Amino acid sequence: MQGCLDFGRGSAKLWRRAVTEGKTPLAEPSRRYSTVSLILHWTIAVAVLTQIGLIMARDATEGEAARQLLQTHKAVGLSILVLTLVRLGWRVANPLIALPAGMPTWERFLSRATQFLFYAVLLILPLTGWLASSAAAREISWFGLFDWPLLPIGGGREVAGRFMDAHEMVVKLLYLLIVLHVAGALKHHFINRDNVLRRMLPFVASRP
Ligand code: HEM
Repeated sequence: MQGCLDFGRGSAKLWRRAVTEGKTPLAEPSRRYSTVSLILHWTIAVAVLTQIGLIMARDATEGEAARQLLQTHKAVGLSILVLTLVRLGWRVANPLIALPAGMPTWERFLSRATQFLFYAVLLILPLTGWLASSAAAREISWFGLFDWPLLPIGGGREVAGRFMDAHEMVVKLLYLLIVLHVAGALKHHFINRDNVLRRMLPFVASRP
């Protein structure tokens, strides 16, 4: 019950009042993320994995096909930037639902730190890619529909190379975060046997 009441200071008060008055604003406020959160989470997750696949495919090909794959990588990456900004806005407007009661402090810290770094990485990766393309004056086409504007920075290949070095370094942090994030979700599901993974899954009922 504690978890059910803990979904933001202001809204917790509203929820308590609603319960005592017999009116519940939502059936189970902290049992599941909102549909918007679910859609954003899984769309970004699939897009990030697609990014890694696109680069692997590009490394395995040459010529026009490789060029097209890199263009798609850029377009998907910039879409991730926009989706991440929407997600951050959504998160600010809609407070986080609580972690399970009794979760050790170190695990809470790791969970929140991983989430924070994920947001940072999902902003820094597209930004460094965008900055690199802009420095090298390489046009970016958004899925052939329109030209994505380049940033007015200049600097040529040398500056572009520095942004690409940063891009590749942050990719390593991304891999580490993916491992930590997936390991944490599986630990909650199979060892703690709580609802942490389930509440981010569509069409799956919560455990009692
Ligand atoms: C969240 C979004 C992104 C992710 C997850 C991502 C991921 C990656 C990965 C895994 C690599 C390979 C790094 C390596 O070989 O060590 C890479 C390379 C690269 N990315 Fe991104 N990227 C993203 C966004 C972007 C954007 C927006 C652009 C440009 C507008 C971009 C441009 C590039 C370029 C030019 C390379 C180097 C390809 C090569 O020549 O080998 N990326 N990215």
